[in-house]
Amino acid sequence: MSQELSSRLAPKRPSESATEMVQVVLPNDANPLGFILGGTVMHLIDIAGAIACHRHTRTLLVTAAVDGLQFLHPIKVGDLIILKSRVTATWTTSLEVEVEVFSEEILTGLRKMTSRAYLTFVSIDTEGRRVPIPPLLIEIAEERERAAAAEHRREERLRARRELEARTV
Ligand SMILES: CC(C)(COP(=O)(O)OP(=O)(O)OC[C@H]1O[C@@H](n2cnc3c(N)ncnc32)[C@H](O)[C@@H]1OP(=O)(O)O)[C@@H](O)C(=O)NCCC(=O)NCCS
Repeated sequence: MSQELSSRLAPKRPSESATEMVQVVLPNDANPLGFILGGTVMHLIDIAGAIACHRHTRTLLVTAAVDGLQFLHPIKVGDLIILKSRVTATWTTSLEVEVEVFSEEILTGLRKMTSRAYLTFVSIDTEGRRVPIPPLLIEIAEERERAAAAEHRREERLRARRELEARTV
């Protein structure tokens, strides 16, 4: 293995790629009730998840799967939307990232968690070929639990993918 490749594939801690994105919800992002559109939140989740994964892999990525998404509370125009993403597990060319979404009222600081999403990205090169990624360096019990939960979700996703593929041929 070249020195360049072995240094790119050196294990990385989740904290090395963890990302926080903050923006204010503007009228253009909202429905007629003044709440941010679900599709806008989904877009921001994809971006926040991708940034953490790019920081982990330093490669090109495609989104392979987004798990079921729920919106627990509306986020209003004028609130802050905060997205925190962290890599939970890595495999050979794919990795899972958790994205938590919060609203924060500017005047009171009141913060509520509004969504938690899990996305899977696959690392590719410019020709679309899969590219191996660095392993996740897991050091504490909380990270180990997160990675174990990610394994279960991955099995479920791959089962769902096989089912979908069987139905679409
Ligand atoms: C995602 C994609 C690259 C997988 O390609 P594929 O030929 O099925 O690849 P493989 O079966 O060899 O899987 C490659 C890796 O992805 C993982 N993977 C593929 N589909 C997955 C899914 N639905 N959920 C979780 N992991 C998945 C595999 O487990 C494998 O991981 P590993 O190398 O870490 O073990 C391909 O389906 C694709 O390009 N999809 C479209 C992506 C896209 O356009 N996204 C939106 C815009 S970015």
